[in-house]
Amino acid sequence: MPEKRSGPKLNEPEWLQRSLDRYLAWGLLFMVVLIVAFPLYRLREPTLRADAKAEQQVNYVKTGGELFSQNCSSCHGKQATGGSAPTLNSKQFLSTTSDNQIALIVTGGISGSSMSPWSLDYGGSLTDEQIRQMVTYLRTLEPNAPSVPDWRTGAKAP
Ligand code: HEC
Repeated sequence: MPEKRSGPKLNEPEWLQRSLDRYLAWGLLFMVVLIVAFPLYRLREPTLRADAKAEQQVNYVKTGGELFSQNCSSCHGKQATGGSAPTLNSKQFLSTTSDNQIALIVTGGISGSSMSPWSLDYGGSLTDEQIRQMVTYLRTLEPNAPSVPDWRTGAKAP
């Protein structure tokens, strides 16, 4: 003979049972909402990311341009067209130098020249992010950069 179980359930008043059922129903509903919401969010996520990236790009270019005119244009010229220092707005320079290379040069400077290290790590005044912002700015010049094969001679270029 199976033993007759006497669980607490048998003693539950009816109102408590109803209340538990309601909680259970709400719980199920929330679960369904979450199950539907996550894939929807995932569908939208690439767009959100792309938007955020585009916005960051716009901000980087703007800030980078300001940083460049404050810190670099005295030697490299306004709009990087060259001065006492190389013309950075040069098709030849930009197409042969990667973002990382430019960032490294700006970070560590060029010893034996007036191009000093700009990174805070090397006694300069700029953060890594500010340097990246300037690189982003310089990169935007590339599509319209004039041909300046002797970019290293700066404004003295013919
Ligand atoms: C005091 C003048 C001076 C300032 C200010 C200056 N530079 Fe320079 N920069 C130079 C000189 C000079 C060179 C070339 C050094 C050499 O090749 O011997 C140079 C070289 C460079 C190069 C390498 C160019 C090449 O031909 O490979 C980059 C990139 C550069 N500078 C970026 C910057 C940026 C960005 C800033 C602003 C944060 C800046 N510079 C500020 C003087 C300056």
